[in-house]
Amino acid sequence: MTDATEGTGATGATGDDRPLLAGVMGWPVKHSRSPLLFGHWFAEHAIPGAYVRLAVREADFAEVFRALPKAGFRGVNVTLPHKISALALADQATETARAIGAANTVTFGADGRSHADNTDGYGFIENIRENAPGWDPDVGPALVLGAGGAARAVVHALLEAGVPGLRLANRTRERAEALAGPYGDRVEVVDWAARAAACDGASLIVNTTSLGMTGQPPLEIALDAAPSFAVVSDLVYAPLETALLAEARRGGLTAVDGLGMLLHQARPGFRAWFGADPAVTPALRAAALEGRP
Ligand SMILES: NC(=O)c1ccc[n+]([C@@H]2O[C@H](COP(=O)([O-])OP(=O)(O)OC[C@H]3O[C@@H](n4cnc5c(N)ncnc54)[C@H](OP(=O)(O)O)[C@@H]3O)[C@@H](O)[C@H]2O)c1
Repeated sequence: MTDATEGTGATGATGDDRPLLAGVMGWPVKHSRSPLLFGHWFAEHAIPGAYVRLAVREADFAEVFRALPKAGFRGVNVTLPHKISALALADQATETARAIGAANTVTFGADGRSHADNTDGYGFIENIRENAPGWDPDVGPALVLGAGGAARAVVHALLEAGVPGLRLANRTRERAEALAGPYGDRVEVVDWAARAAACDGASLIVNTTSLGMTGQPPLEIALDAAPSFAVVSDLVYAPLETALLAEARRGGLTAVDGLGMLLHQARPGFRAWFGADPAVTPALRAAALEGRP
């Protein structure tokens, strides 16, 4: 694998006579909202494209991945459990995907070569900038709760955005330490039990754990120590209004739900594969929530 420029779009749409075809690979993948987003953008941009769900078992991933360019695919989004394998199999990868250790967006060039990127961190930051425009990364450290796959993207994006420091708390401390390691003293691991105290002075507090999702216990954290300018963000988007966000709003803090991250992370793929810059709008949010219980 070699380096690729950030956001590599391989070919774009101009002068490319391949089918207007892309998809999402996962196992399971039937829950994926991506076809709704792409369908909305195809209609908005009058692009006669197709975006399909590809349910692929882990054992079959490499074979299917390698066959996609020959089947006419311009690119794929990759979701669990394939994000690490996609990075390993790609011919090229952005520095971002390498730093995170996983890919969620793969672009196939007309020559069949694959370019891997990770746009989760981009989606996260764009969502914050859109819904908390007053947030200034310089003002104070960020507190990130959780150290799983999503946390890796969020930590990387926040450090790139210029936060002066980052506090990381995870139930399993060793996992936080492993994530923090490569970033040296820019990331301070704090005990899970000390998460409320770690809100002191934080400009941004982010839940990247699965706590608060429908069917999971809520994330319990007192926000009293958070400064009045703090932004509280939850990656969970089912439900949209988690107990964490409700508590933030009660305390007068700015609260940002997780749906916007899901929508924004899909934009670079659409741009690279179909040559149009899609927007995140209220109509797209409604489309993404369609059919949800
Ligand atoms: N909005 C978006 O676009 C977007 C994108 C990606 C992910 N997400 C959401 O982010 C969440 C995490 O996803 P992921 O892929 O990072 O999952 P993951 O890799 O499985 O990580 C799960 C995280 O949650 C923590 N956790 C789970 N149960 C817990 C409990 N009972 N108490 C305390 N901590 C607990 C885990 O801590 P341990 O390490 O101690 O197990 C770990 O930090 C999910 O809700 C996912 O839907 C949203």
